Amino acid sequence: MESYRIAVIGGDGIGPEVVEEGLKVMKAAQPPPPSARVLEFEKFPWGTEHYLRTGSMMPKDALQTLDTFDAIYLGAIGDPRVPDAITLHGLILPLRKAFDQYACVRPARLYPGISSPLANKSPGSIDMIVVRENTEGEYSDVGGRVYPGSAHEVAIQAGVFTRYGTERIIRYAFELALQPGRRKKVTSITKSNAQRHGMVFWDEVFRAVAADYPSIQAESQLVDAACMNFVRKPESFDVVVASNLFGDILTDLGAIIVGGMGLAPSANIDPSRNHPSMFEPVHGSAPDIAGKGLANPLAAILSAAMMLEFLGEAQSASMIRKAAAENLAGGRVRTPDLGGSASTAQVGDDLVALIRSLKGDE
Ligand code: NAD
Ligand code: IPM
Ligand code: MN
Repeated sequence: MESYRIAVIGGDGIGPEVVEEGLKVMKAAQPPPPSARVLEFEKFPWGTEHYLRTGSMMPKDALQTLDTFDAIYLGAIGDPRVPDAITLHGLILPLRKAFDQYACVRPARLYPGISSPLANKSPGSIDMIVVRENTEGEYSDVGGRVYPGSAHEVAIQAGVFTRYGTERIIRYAFELALQPGRRKKVTSITKSNAQRHGMVFWDEVFRAVAADYPSIQAESQLVDAACMNFVRKPESFDVVVASNLFGDILTDLGAIIVGGMGLAPSANIDPSRNHPSMFEPVHGSAPDIAGKGLANPLAAILSAAMMLEFLGEAQSASMIRKAAAENLAGGRVRTPDLGGSASTAQVGDDLVALIRSLKGDE
């Protein structure tokens, strides 16, 4: 019997709590063999506790180990006891780069039953996908510090934009805009009025790639104006393509206008499939609510749906999405971020129950 091998890294804070619910829901959604491949999960206890014990976030051979898996399912990383510059550079960021997960795909859709903090937004009116460049740009980690601690200390943080990296992410966004159900529009976000090297270059590449897709409406916006438009007219965005840093910032904004961090899924994709892709919520480890059963697991659960879809299990993915939509429309079983009083596990259990009844309806 063929199986998918999925590496599971719960990580820190609420990471393990929300991942547990994702695992529950994936198991419930998968049809029995032989109509689907078996999901084999292997957990890796890596993260800040591992760092405090051993001095590194994951073992030396972690990349070779993970490279043998079909996908990685991740919770979150970050712990107030250790600087973020150590933890994030010790786990998430090296995985995205080593596995060439250059397309970070982050949908933001307003579900029925969720009221946006923006006034008068109807379900489905906000429905965008941000495609974030995930391996270079402002996250290239090129730079350094000179004369540390002195009055003339210098810190340099370079942004690196390559033609290879820029063109492939923009092309990915245009291909996504051609998919059924999309509205055939791509908005590129830069700051080329001030950042006249990397960002002017990005605009040029965007125009060149756009010329290959005459059926798609292509527009460019400056990131400051885009922030305003995410709030003023979020309906106007379909596929949005942005650099690593701008994509990061815009996807917290995109999450909050459709109901919050508890609902926002994310995929770090290596489209070549040479390496495992990684699926994780947009949110972090939320130390303020960790260990209390307060975290909303839906972002992690919807990330699991993105993973199953990417692996080819479209039926399970759509079952999970339907169950999530029913949970939100019903409004009965919700965590406190959505105004409810249910626990993390109760939301997971509700999804499992909804999936069982969806399966009964088939
Ligand atoms: P965060 O996303 O962890 O939390 C921001 C706010 O949203 C908090 O008030 C939190 O309680 C709330 N929130 C987040 N997820 C929630 C959920 N599932 N349900 C209900 N409420 C939720 O961002 P932060 O506080 O800026 O960062 C905390 C730590 O996480 C930091 O160390 C940061 O570097 C790290 N971080 C990691 C990732 C990741 O692992 N991918 C992403 C972002 C931040
Ligand atoms: C995200 C996070 C990460 C990022 C951090 C934790 C390094 O904010 O996935 O959105 O900036 O990519
Ligand atoms: Mn972020």
